[in-house]
Amino acid sequence: MKKIDVLVTGGAGYIGSHAVVELYNSGYRPIIVDNFSNSSIKNIEGIEQIINNKVVFHEFDCTDEDQMNELFKIESNIEAVIHFAAFKAVEESVREPKKYYCNNIGSLEVLLKTMKRYKVNNIIFSSSCTVYGSPDILPVSELAPFKKAESPYGETKQLCEKLIDKSDINSISLRYFNPVGSHETCLIGDCSADKPNNLVPIICEVASGKRDSMQIFGNDYNTIDGTCVRDYIHVVDLAKAHVAALNHILNSKKIKTAYNIGVGKGVSVQEVVDSFEQINDIKISYKIGPRRAGDVEEIYSDNSKINKELKWFPIMSFGSALKTAWIWEKNK
Ligand code: UFG
Repeated sequence: MKKIDVLVTGGAGYIGSHAVVELYNSGYRPIIVDNFSNSSIKNIEGIEQIINNKVVFHEFDCTDEDQMNELFKIESNIEAVIHFAAFKAVEESVREPKKYYCNNIGSLEVLLKTMKRYKVNNIIFSSSCTVYGSPDILPVSELAPFKKAESPYGETKQLCEKLIDKSDINSISLRYFNPVGSHETCLIGDCSADKPNNLVPIICEVASGKRDSMQIFGNDYNTIDGTCVRDYIHVVDLAKAHVAALNHILNSKKIKTAYNIGVGKGVSVQEVVDSFEQINDIKISYKIGPRRAGDVEEIYSDNSKINKELKWFPIMSFGSALKTAWIWEKNK
């Protein structure tokens, strides 16, 4: 049977590469478009090793209309787009907001225009729990309002969801909580040039000796042990949610919706550090530091909507996420 073509923008990135593997394993033909501005060919090689086959990829820039037109002309059977390509460093977005508006919003505008021109009617968008800001009710459900964004990065995710809502194509926005870990082979992962400022990559750098020590940002929050609480989702479970969303969108006549992608359980920063030490049998040098500006005290997902509607459930353990994160750090 002929495979369905799915365009994966940012398919050489951290989440994109994991999604490409799951799409391929589910019988789709993923077509990667990436400009490698903040990703690496290493992930393409990793994907090919995992699937034991070549993967289709095009080095184009999603903000360039001519290039996108050319891409849709070459790949004339695309039935859906999964749009990962975006900058993602929250701190950098505060320093260089324009870079984030131009790239993250610009690429979506070009994509929507090109999709319309080539009559591609389905998009799955990489969104984030950042759209909720600091939610009033926990666990946070998709019905929670968008609060004032904490960073230009967060603003771009809110604006992109609104742009997609206004368009007349079918759409599913997936609101990721905190992705962690790597594929079991540890051949793909985060190759971005961003200096890591996410918790698990920083712990890995301390473990490898790249950093001498790290800080836990605040232990005086109103949480179980005073440190911030997040919902850590294994990147392979997250990647599989894209396949579930794709199956659903391709079987729907008209759809515009959003799903939370998280485990539905809060884990504190202290618990993450302790678990990492235990699972990987390695000591992490850390100090308790001041709170980090813009941090939400506690956020975790109500994932019942996607459980019910798409029969997607997270199955990977937090331990395997911490194990593979550490192996990826050593391999990269
Ligand atoms: N943390 C530390 N020390 C560090 C790094 C992080 O204590 O060196 C803490 C943070 O203060 C926070 C927790 O670890 O409490 C998680 O921080 P991350 O930076 O890993 O993740 P965030 O929850 O801040 O950010 C994530 C996504 C963003 C998204 C944001 C929305 O990475 O893309 O959620 O809340 F915008």
